[in-house]
Amino acid sequence: MTKPLRVGVAGLGTVGAALIAQVAAQRAQLTARCGRGIDIVAVCARSKAKNRGVDLKKMKWFSDPVELAGDPGIDVFVELMGGSGDPAKTAVEFALASGKSAVTANKALLAKHGVKLAQLAEKSGVALNYEAAVGAAIPIVKTLREGLTGNSIDRIYGILNGTCNYILTRMEQEKLSFAECLKQAQQLGYAEANPAFDIEGHDTAQKLSLLASLAFGTKVDQSAIYVEGISSIAAADLAAADELGYRVKLLGVAVKTPQGIEQRVHPTMVRKESSIAQVMGVTNAVTIDAKGINPITLIGPGAGGAATASAVLSDIADVARGQKTSPFGRPTASLTSVRKAPMQRHEGGYYIRLMARDKPGTAASIATRLAEQEISLESIVQRHPKDGPSADTAKGSVPVILITYATSEDGVRKALAAVGRDKVISGRPQVIRIEKN
Ligand code: HSE
Repeated sequence: MTKPLRVGVAGLGTVGAALIAQVAAQRAQLTARCGRGIDIVAVCARSKAKNRGVDLKKMKWFSDPVELAGDPGIDVFVELMGGSGDPAKTAVEFALASGKSAVTANKALLAKHGVKLAQLAEKSGVALNYEAAVGAAIPIVKTLREGLTGNSIDRIYGILNGTCNYILTRMEQEKLSFAECLKQAQQLGYAEANPAFDIEGHDTAQKLSLLASLAFGTKVDQSAIYVEGISSIAAADLAAADELGYRVKLLGVAVKTPQGIEQRVHPTMVRKESSIAQVMGVTNAVTIDAKGINPITLIGPGAGGAATASAVLSDIADVARGQKTSPFGRPTASLTSVRKAPMQRHEGGYYIRLMARDKPGTAASIATRLAEQEISLESIVQRHPKDGPSADTAKGSVPVILITYATSEDGVRKALAAVGRDKVISGRPQVIRIEKN
């Protein structure tokens, strides 16, 4: 039998510790499946003394990840430190340049330097695998990179951030506050070290940039993505969505349009009966619309130690088997530059929640501004508080909720700017895009 694959792991947080436990628990099965053993022979982390609940005694300890990456005693370097800069970047570059395959869960690193790292892997003839970087345990990278090689993809969209989906789910179902839900997501180990990355949509954007490259054969380009997070979503929006037959999800969407590839991350209304609307808690889901076949939806745990380690281990197993695929599914020389479709040209339905001044002529004035932009309304709901006047109504304003038919982003922005100038509303309108699914 071929000698066991010798693995070096840099980063022993939740994912690193779960990986070590999983390799130990699956030893016999991994050997049977890969035709050789998988041994974690060396590790690197900041603190040697910390108890991680796993046995590190037989592993060589490194305090410098770059040194571990260059160690001749390992065949594959696993990077679980995170961050788009050093030490992760130099360590992965060093491993690839010294002829070792690299496995990483680091979406930030790949979103920023993915093409360069793929070129380096290509030059050295080694693998660069990153299944865990998107959707944790969901095998979406392999699905796009290998499973759908023969398909032409029109759109890929999904719930790519477990923390946001967890927060939106608990706010909706248990009427908890945003802050309370975020705290729990952090305690459960779902959120990034800086949870603003989750909440403001940047984590989703990094993942979407990788999916778009895999789906459309474009160079990874996070700067081409329009990003909005979930911090403005209020209980009133979740309640209104529920009444109107929708749920609010933070979606990452990449779609081919005549203007180019539209890439966007924003809170989105999805029909309650759609499969993506059923996805609750930390679970992620990705739907792929490919020509000639019905949509494919993959659903699974999108964050957490064991879920992420599961994907890292499958990447290591590919290296053990001697499998190597171009990191972005095609030689880097054939990746094209993204032709970015401007967000103003986005077309779709919109949910708009306004605080309208409660006086004659307000509704007519709003309707006129919408009509000027050729925006047609599917529904309009004016709410009257059940239990007497609220703080808002006391000030003479009432919530009005509008649902538009498909229209342009530009039209909506212009109409709402005009409504603002007319001084018939108070505060900023809440706008949530509706995604067809
Ligand atoms: N913070 C990320 C999430 C972790 O909540 O989805 C997995 O990438």
